[in-house]
Amino acid sequence: MVDDNMTLTKTNTAKVKAVEPDFDDEDTTPPIKPGKEREPLRARIEDFSFFYADGFQAIKNVDMPILDRKVTAIIGPSGCGKSTLLRSLNRMHDLYPGNRYEGRVILEPEGENLIGPESDPVIVRLRVGMVFQKPNPFPKTIYENVAAGLRVRGIKKRSMIDEAVENALRRAAIWDEVKDKLNGSAYDLSGGQQQRLCIARGLAPNPEILLLDEPTSALDPIATAKVEDLVQELSESVTIVIVTHNMQQAARVSHRTAFMYMGEMMEFGETQTIFTNPKHPRTENYITGRYG
Ligand SMILES: Nc1ncnc2c1ncn2[C@@H]1O[C@H](COP(=O)(O)OP(=O)(O)OP(=O)(O)O)[C@@H](O)[C@H]1O
Ligand SMILES: [Mg+2]
Repeated sequence: MVDDNMTLTKTNTAKVKAVEPDFDDEDTTPPIKPGKEREPLRARIEDFSFFYADGFQAIKNVDMPILDRKVTAIIGPSGCGKSTLLRSLNRMHDLYPGNRYEGRVILEPEGENLIGPESDPVIVRLRVGMVFQKPNPFPKTIYENVAAGLRVRGIKKRSMIDEAVENALRRAAIWDEVKDKLNGSAYDLSGGQQQRLCIARGLAPNPEILLLDEPTSALDPIATAKVEDLVQELSESVTIVIVTHNMQQAARVSHRTAFMYMGEMMEFGETQTIFTNPKHPRTENYITGRYG
């Protein structure tokens, strides 16, 4: 993690690199692959590729470790494949015919390959929860939004559902705001509250990994700060992978950062290192705002 005072200015990176930045596509510097991790892993993405139904390869041979109960940020220019990679991790692409995965996404400690034929996508989606850019609560009550995932998990006993709903809403730091209106419509909540409700919905089945795709891009600064605090708090109990366009956010909340470029993993490392001492010229160009 990088401390809050760290500024992402040119001076920060200027001293680490003497060569001129390049802007063309002729850069032949090889990507910087992740090294061996010292910390326990929750998942390993290995030689992973993804092809959309039209044949387009959106992810190219990506290797990436996902640290257990830490925050991993994925950054990179629009269209580089961040959402595609995130959605692969909970088999979201299976909802559309013709999409194809190659390689492995190994969930630790049991070593199950989440994209293998032996894995059931419905179960994978409970073990790996997802929250999207725009808050998308169901047109139901606050209670039912959170209870939905539990019912999919087969939990039927009302008292158990009640307890799990409260627990998820507390974990998502929204319990105090909604406890007196659990039967009210989720649509009556503010955008920031709706996003925390969606986080509660994702947490209810007690997933091992929570995926967040630009979770604050539709929120104001106060609601954003709340979600960022929440992400840090949650990372003590659940592994988090977050896609963000906000460099300060990645620097504030994550322990590891992956920089993607045109479907490839260009550089992966400790967040502090990526933002203060990037090794690949494309990473430096991106984090200093030379392209985006
Ligand atoms: N359903 C689809 N069929 C074919 N190609 C797709 C499909 N969805 C996305 N793509 C392509 O895959 C590439 C990666 O898209 P993706 O949405 O993962 O990018 P991203 O990094 O999340 O971008 P952004 O920052 O704009 O959200 C893009 O070139 C996009 O055009
Ligand atoms: Mg995206």
